[in-house]
Amino acid sequence: MRKNLYRIGLDIPLNNDALKFISSLKEDFWIVEEDIIGTQVHNIMLFEQKILDETEIRKILFALEQIKNKIKSNKIEIDDSFEDIHPFIEKSVIDTIGIEIGGKLHTGRSRNDQVSVDLRLKIRKELNKISEGLFALIDILLNLSKNNISSYLPLYTHLQRGQLGVFSHYINNYIAQFLRTLERIEEIYNRVNKNPLGACAIGGTSININRNRTSELLGFDGLVYNSIDAISSRDYIYETLMVFSLLAIQFSRIAEDLIIWATKEFNFIELADEYCSVSSVMPQKKNPDTVELIRSRSSKVVSNLFSTAMIIKAIPTGYFKDFQDLKKKLISSINIILSIITMFKGIFSTISINKDNMRHAIDDSFILALDLAELLVQDYNIPFRQSHEIVALLVKNLEKPEDMLNREKIEKSIFNVIKKEINLSEKVIQTIKNLDLCLERRISQGSPSGKEVKLNIDKLGKWKDSLYTLFLNRIEKVKNAKVLRNRLIEKLIS
Ligand code: ARG
Repeated sequence: MRKNLYRIGLDIPLNNDALKFISSLKEDFWIVEEDIIGTQVHNIMLFEQKILDETEIRKILFALEQIKNKIKSNKIEIDDSFEDIHPFIEKSVIDTIGIEIGGKLHTGRSRNDQVSVDLRLKIRKELNKISEGLFALIDILLNLSKNNISSYLPLYTHLQRGQLGVFSHYINNYIAQFLRTLERIEEIYNRVNKNPLGACAIGGTSININRNRTSELLGFDGLVYNSIDAISSRDYIYETLMVFSLLAIQFSRIAEDLIIWATKEFNFIELADEYCSVSSVMPQKKNPDTVELIRSRSSKVVSNLFSTAMIIKAIPTGYFKDFQDLKKKLISSINIILSIITMFKGIFSTISINKDNMRHAIDDSFILALDLAELLVQDYNIPFRQSHEIVALLVKNLEKPEDMLNREKIEKSIFNVIKKEINLSEKVIQTIKNLDLCLERRISQGSPSGKEVKLNIDKLGKWKDSLYTLFLNRIEKVKNAKVLRNRLIEKLIS
């Protein structure tokens, strides 16, 4: 029989270089499982619609199962002469059960709706895998946060020491960002998880198919209704890469923090040896290579989004082969994101915090300047603009940080600015000498006071739990569809 299933209308076979150039066969193995599932479901539906009879569905499902098992056990021989996975599977079925029955498998379907089903099923699976990884990373971070509620940390803006904080508060900020990303994934998932199957090439089919039934068997939340939209739109890929790109940016900024903190100049943290490399010549060095590569590889995830935008924007409505290359962008971004999650899980479970060095960076600074200015506002009714000036002048003329806590110097600066004698209370002096008291005065919501940090941890935990429930619902729905499908397959094959 003809080797190429489709090329009947052309006289000359595809040039070998051209075949290599256009083939997606290699990367298609990324979606092979989904392709077979989509084909099984399409054919079960054809049987239920009486388009296939009992013998036909039994043979088709049997052949598909056989191919699936061969692929699983790596026994499949890949024939490079195929352009992509779809004719490869169809031809394998035909070779197993003959053209009379195997030739019916693609009835009422096109590769255009088929590939979009495959990709939606695959993206759905990967979004769930990434969500699971993020939830696990968040658990590790929550633990780290709970253990560091009273570990002081200087907070920086412009990489200049700004305000006193605690390590827990900092980690909570990472967790909040990841939770927002999980929220975005949840939202995107609902749009990805729609069924394009049945759109056929672009304009539907005269075969009496049942699109709702394939939706049900694939665990989709309804249809991509319009047949043109179903085969032509790639917004589901774009927004998936959008959320990955955002996540990559979040990862990269965290990597930056860790790289800076791990320098001997900062020395706030120590990364476990197992995540660091050494220099070939400088014996003293311990380099955070893993974190540096997180920073560099995240740029690839962002650029995958850019090239996807460029590919999609050039395509008139309809299917064009350009779409095929989007698969590579997805594979690349997903692999990078998953590997970064694995790295961060390890890094944050083994990180050590150098509390003494962080304390030293606080003591060796004017980090309580704003706390002092606010004390003057609250206890002496000095307008903030003037208290700001008082402390600015005080700090400007000081040689060493401890002098900021010197009663006479503060009183002198107050007099210089507001021309009034004020005797500072013991309470003010004691407060700015005590980091805990300063922190406790930060009563605004979301501040690093002990009370607020604990509240923040509590809120983050609840937020995570509610997103996790939604995630479990997704998993459950996918699982139920699989059970339903497998039961049918078993029944129809036997
Ligand atoms: N390999 C193709 C892809 O990934 C499958 C769809 C082919 N459709 C077509 N009309 N050529 O996009």
